[in-house]
Amino acid sequence: MNAKELSERGKWGSKIAFILAASGSAIGLGNIWRFPMVVGQNGGAVFVLVYVLAVALIGFTVMLAELAIGRHTQKNPVGAINRIKPRSPWKFIGYLGILTGICILSFYSVVAGWAAGYLIKTVSGAFRGAVSSQVTEKIFTDFSSNPFQVLLFLMVVIGITTYIISKGVKGGIERWTKVLMPILFILIIFLAIRALALPGSGKGISFYLKPDFSKLNGTVILFALGQAFFSLSLGMGTMITYGSYITKSDNLVSSAGWVCLSDTLIAILAGLIIFPTLFAIPGIAPTAGSGLIFKVFPLIFSRIPGGDIFGTLFFTLLLVAAITSTISLLEVPVAYFVDERNWSRKKAAFLIGAFSFLLGIPSALSSGGVKLLTKIDFMGKMNFFFGNVSLAFGALLICLFLGYVWGVKKALGEIASGNTRFRLRPLWTFSVKYLSPIAIIIILFFIRTIAG
Ligand code: PHE
Repeated sequence: MNAKELSERGKWGSKIAFILAASGSAIGLGNIWRFPMVVGQNGGAVFVLVYVLAVALIGFTVMLAELAIGRHTQKNPVGAINRIKPRSPWKFIGYLGILTGICILSFYSVVAGWAAGYLIKTVSGAFRGAVSSQVTEKIFTDFSSNPFQVLLFLMVVIGITTYIISKGVKGGIERWTKVLMPILFILIIFLAIRALALPGSGKGISFYLKPDFSKLNGTVILFALGQAFFSLSLGMGTMITYGSYITKSDNLVSSAGWVCLSDTLIAILAGLIIFPTLFAIPGIAPTAGSGLIFKVFPLIFSRIPGGDIFGTLFFTLLLVAAITSTISLLEVPVAYFVDERNWSRKKAAFLIGAFSFLLGIPSALSSGGVKLLTKIDFMGKMNFFFGNVSLAFGALLICLFLGYVWGVKKALGEIASGNTRFRLRPLWTFSVKYLSPIAIIIILFFIRTIAG
């Protein structure tokens, strides 16, 4: 690597900076928007249980695998695989990751745009009288089916993402996440306490936390596993890329552990806000889908003194959490074009950003904007295919590549730099070679029946 390449790549300033940036990537709409949505659609508490198991047994395994590959090679996903196994078809993992990243970015930014729109609505007092679910339903439907608004906000989100990515790793990504993630955490705890205190919240709590095992089936497991990969930003090389900016002396195991833990905590807390509220104020079904949180959160804000202020703070932080994730989605393709094709950061960020915007248009118009797109639920399909299937497939290939091509021994060697006593070593080895790949294969095998 020459000096120019090194300075274009950059490094995290410290271990904490990495943990915050990686948590910033992991924590986002996946936790606050997508998690409650899939919990609601997949039977509640039993889903939550399978989800937590999936994070602990498989998510953590894949996270550590990606970080080890990334730090060892100091490269983007395509370059990383190429360095370990030159000129082999395995670099397909990298290309698949780039494609998946761009596709997720396209619909994810639509929802981030909704958060931006809701921020403006809150500031202008639109939710002040929104005490019943009928009101919040109508506000959401009117908003999400207005083509001009959704496209405008989509453009704003992708514009901000592109700008930050064009500024590079340290100046851009790191500076943002350091301050804002902790504030989000505190606000969410506060809102959960408020939701739990609503009269009638008990039914929501038992829907969310008391598993009904008769609801356990293949679909629940597929969505729980897919959600684990989505929420932890795994299966498309994000953590290979972020891992490539980690210094050799950092402890990968504890870093991965912290990211998994903080991400899961925020998701669980988001559910503790949504479900008690949902059941305390009837009118919205847990299966409401992509509009769920946008219909429920305003109901809380209309019930606390200074609700406008809390609402404004919440949607600001939601937007920030979303943007620390969109930048990690865009960073994967950008790192590829910078490393492998010698593009400048600016050019790569701008061109891929523009492309993602175009790709996002049909998703943006599929919540009422255009009838046909709404009918086929274009955004839902993108979310299912790229957010579940493609990430799970990518994670499978990463496990197989590490376990059988690069070799667990060499990976453990990489992990040992920064952590000489990795006590979970046998468990991790078992999971990366057998448990995770077999579980993912079984789930992918059944996908046709599940999706049909
Ligand atoms: N993990 C992010 C979230 O929960 C989304 C994401 C998925 C980011 C895949 C990067 C890669 O919001």
